[in-house]
Amino acid sequence: MKGLILSGGTGTRLRPITFTSAKQLVPIANKPILFYAIETVGDAGITDIGIIVGDTKEEVKETVGDGSAFGVKITYIEQEAPLGLAHAVKIAEDFIAGDSFVMFLGDNLIKEGIAGLVEEFERDKPNCQILLAHVENPEQFGVAELTSDGKVERLIEKPKDPPSDLALVGVYMFDPHIFEAVKAIKPSWRDELEITDAIQYLLEKGYDVRPHVIDGWWKDTGKLDDILEANRIMLEGIETDIRGTVDADSTLHGRVVIEEGAHITNSVIRGPAIIGKNSEITGSYVGPFTAIHNNVRLVGSEVEHSIILADCVIENLGGRLEGSLLGRNVKLHKSDTKPRAFRLMVGDNSQVEVV
Ligand code: DAU
Repeated sequence: MKGLILSGGTGTRLRPITFTSAKQLVPIANKPILFYAIETVGDAGITDIGIIVGDTKEEVKETVGDGSAFGVKITYIEQEAPLGLAHAVKIAEDFIAGDSFVMFLGDNLIKEGIAGLVEEFERDKPNCQILLAHVENPEQFGVAELTSDGKVERLIEKPKDPPSDLALVGVYMFDPHIFEAVKAIKPSWRDELEITDAIQYLLEKGYDVRPHVIDGWWKDTGKLDDILEANRIMLEGIETDIRGTVDADSTLHGRVVIEEGAHITNSVIRGPAIIGKNSEITGSYVGPFTAIHNNVRLVGSEVEHSIILADCVIENLGGRLEGSLLGRNVKLHKSDTKPRAFRLMVGDNSQVEVV
């Protein structure tokens, strides 16, 4: 069996972060989201993996490499534009070469992994296996309607009036019949070839589409709150590991990771939290569920439940930063100049909340 991971697309919901970077490379607990997808597919014993890339292909290729760091072999498949998930399948036909495959959306995270589900698919050999999860906002997903005996009756993409609360998780297993489907369907109202429509086609042609309702934690990390929640869940699983230096005036509580070259001086770190390589935390408080990436300088400030990307400088903030995602190289500091006013240079589509 092969793997197909989707890392193209535009990431509009995460702008401005995604103006300069791929959304699949936003770090969760200091590790790009995409790495979790590669590891999850690899842990299911699948080592031949194709990655669909779009505009951000150079960055994705540079960050992921040839797969050897993950014990897998990666083949990059370039998609000329984000024309839909089924379009991504279509252009992967040569790579899949008649095999069965797992398709994994590069912005999805499944905590429990998929090894058991892949095993089930390989044993029972249906034409397609879909994963479903109960959600509170089904209108934002592909939605499944099941019969009373648990078979898939109908699938619809982002329905205004959802027939159930069962969302399609971004992990699908297919045999080669899916290529017949992706060639037969037409673009949707959002002008994309929808994988949901392709699976609906399989159903209508009488192919065996098996649903599997998962009850573990799953997240589509498309939006800020989802990214922060994913960060929280992944940080919950970390173990204390101190590779940098912590001076005698600092205290660490709970599970904390301090990466190589990081210096903690006169500060309090309350885990679960992670401080990236070569970052300097001085006279500051870092609260639970915070991931600070590499080369960050935090001085005289407080941060909690946030993700701070590489090369940021936060100095003498005079208040606590909470529930925030700062892009790379952001400078944030308190100014004493008069008149007292907020002074901002923020990118397009930024969100700032002040008190
Ligand atoms: O997360 C689960 C949901 O994913 C499902 O419930 C929906 O049925 C499914 O359509 C999909 O919905 P999204 O609107 O969230 O998909 P999105 O456009 O965010 O794309 C998912 C991933 O695939 C993302 O990492 C970008 C990548 N992608 C997307 C498109 C449209 C590509 O590589 N190529 C594409 O053409």
